[in-house]
Amino acid sequence: MSEITRVPAGLYGVAVSETGISRSASDGSLVFRGYGIKDLFEKASFEECAFLILEGHLPTKGELDDFTSNLRAHWPLPTNVYQIIKAMPRDSHPMDVVRTAMSGLGANEHSLSPKEQQYSLVAKMPALVANCYRIVRGMEVMEPEEDMNFAWNLLYMLTGKRPDAFDAWAFERELILYLEHDLNASTFTVRVVASTLADVYAACTAGAAALKGPLHGGANEAAMQMLLEIGSPEKAAAYLQESLSKGRKVMGFGHRVYKKVDPRAQLSKGMLKTLLEHRHADDKLYRLADALEQAMWQAKRIPANLDFYAAPIFYTLSLPIETYTPIFAASRVTGWVAHYNEQLAENKLFRPDSIYTGPNDLSYVPIEKR
Ligand code: ACO
Repeated sequence: MSEITRVPAGLYGVAVSETGISRSASDGSLVFRGYGIKDLFEKASFEECAFLILEGHLPTKGELDDFTSNLRAHWPLPTNVYQIIKAMPRDSHPMDVVRTAMSGLGANEHSLSPKEQQYSLVAKMPALVANCYRIVRGMEVMEPEEDMNFAWNLLYMLTGKRPDAFDAWAFERELILYLEHDLNASTFTVRVVASTLADVYAACTAGAAALKGPLHGGANEAAMQMLLEIGSPEKAAAYLQESLSKGRKVMGFGHRVYKKVDPRAQLSKGMLKTLLEHRHADDKLYRLADALEQAMWQAKRIPANLDFYAAPIFYTLSLPIETYTPIFAASRVTGWVAHYNEQLAENKLFRPDSIYTGPNDLSYVPIEKR
């Protein structure tokens, strides 16, 4: 083996895989399989984008119908998964329950074919995410509605109310933005686990574990809590200065790839404005987020990321804050599955090297002499 070389902390700027699934770039562009994110955000359905991510091309009408009915056939959760969820402590964070239920689902479905396992996992995420939250918070179980789509059903089961078409459409736009994002921390985790030839549930459960952290998917919940704490646009600049002077990270800002603009954040910002206008609602939340974004840009030249603007959209849609990261997971599972397949198509076990910095040449000392 050649000499071990030190790589940048956090693998900053290091490519560890090739991928044909998506590409984010520092110029603020994002493509899914060659299609620009703005085009997909404005024109496509979640199901079309999920098919695109999984299968590599936009579906024909027939392919989309088959895909949608295949997902529907896999909606119901096994009874055993409900039992696992019910056994979780009542004060669990829903994301911990989601991660556990995903693992439990794998234990139930080990005899399915790999393709069926993948459909099952993607299809079950709305009912799984919604009912993980509902059950630990003492609410009754809800099932998806037969003729409705992924986004409508997830919003319906999380809020317990039949959403109107506009709200479901706005929510679906955010799910499209969350679908896939090349080699972020959770997707890298999925690929590492896939490289051991573990099953898709194991890989995606590991992805969910990585997603929970506040530097990654957990940031959308933290960003909303911060916006509520600030309370009004007039207080944004002072709050920011205080946070920066205390060396605190401001949640929902910054990105490893996007250093000037996160295109998903800007699309979400427009969506927040549209949603509030559609509801004839006070635009205070929009003005507050905008004020904080501007103050952060002036102070540090750090842009808002997707989590920063998805959070107030979810809030406006009456979604409980503790469900924001699980919602991210419900959508991102599709990207994880696509990366799982891509990893296996040309697999090589991930096994990086390390540079040992511990002591050498110590002699064992019996316990009574220590
Ligand atoms: N608040 C304050 N300072 C920040 C922030 C932030 N949100 N983000 C970056 N910085 C600062 C860093 O402190 C660092 O300053 P320094 O050079 O003086 O030490 C500098 O900007 C560079 O930042 P890094 O952390 O090196 O950037 P990196 O690419 O490693 O981190 C990350 C990206 C982890 C997302 C970071 O920006 C962060 O912690 N943001 C807050 C959490 C967040 O919003 N995560 C969501 C990511 S997007 C997603 O998951 C959809």
